[in-house]
Amino acid sequence: MRFDLIGSRESGAVAILYVGEGEDPKKAAEEIMRRHRHVKSVLLRIGPRNGTYRLRPLVLLIGDEDTEVIHKEHGYRLKLDPTKVYFSPREATERRLIAEQVSPGERVLVMFAGVGPFAIAIAKFQPKVKEVVGVEINESAYKYFVENVRMNKVEGKVKPILGDVRDVCPSMFGTFNRVLMPLPKGAYEFLDLGLMSLKGPKGILHFYYWGGEKAHQEAITMVGQKARELGLRVEPLFWRRVSAYSPRKWKIRVDFRVLIG
Ligand SMILES: C[S@@+](CC[C@H](N)C(=O)[O-])C[C@H]1O[C@@H](n2cnc3c(N)ncnc32)[C@H](O)[C@@H]1O
Repeated sequence: MRFDLIGSRESGAVAILYVGEGEDPKKAAEEIMRRHRHVKSVLLRIGPRNGTYRLRPLVLLIGDEDTEVIHKEHGYRLKLDPTKVYFSPREATERRLIAEQVSPGERVLVMFAGVGPFAIAIAKFQPKVKEVVGVEINESAYKYFVENVRMNKVEGKVKPILGDVRDVCPSMFGTFNRVLMPLPKGAYEFLDLGLMSLKGPKGILHFYYWGGEKAHQEAITMVGQKARELGLRVEPLFWRRVSAYSPRKWKIRVDFRVLIG
């Protein structure tokens, strides 16, 4: 039986259940409720993430219809409803690894910001960051993002913006030291925006991608090509597998130094 828990003892938690062949979802859900007393609802995953908002189709198997929770990681709290927004509790380490790279005085752009986990992690781990701007298109995610900024008392540092990165980013071109692109299936379509948002003489791009054994090489080629088209130079610095989608497919991150001018 495989499941993720999102939430906390205080707010209650929801379990997202993945059943294998021959497994009885109802029995598995009852077992989870019995073993984890703070679980208020068990949701069954009935398909892969899809659409612009990257939501998982989920059905309530047992428990409370109200699936809003407050998730805790690394000392900050995130309010969200997994039926309405993207959130993965498995990426807590990834958020910490990114936040630990940020230096005092940096301006950071989080494209595809969701309910704000990267932006809030950065402001918490690096309180001397100048500003973290997050752009999100899903109105439900944006509303939670705004509330999470308040709940974690980082209003002075983190600025959520509702909208499509295509409309929002051009007015901020050339103003960030670091840009995150956490949209593994499709970030490459927005590479021009990510690269152009960086400020000279050099910036850092965290590019997320999805693929097999050679995913990092594909990502390096793609980013290099787009940078050349824009008259920029990029140096790959590091790559890692963030999480596994299937036995031979991963979400990966490749970090680049971007040289401008
Ligand atoms: C993979 S999720 C990541 C969310 C968040 N960064 C996290 O780690 O929890 C990608 C997010 O990008 C948002 N998104 C997709 N296309 C977008 C666009 N064109 N402009 C702004 N946000 C977008 C989706 O709604 C979704 O919340």
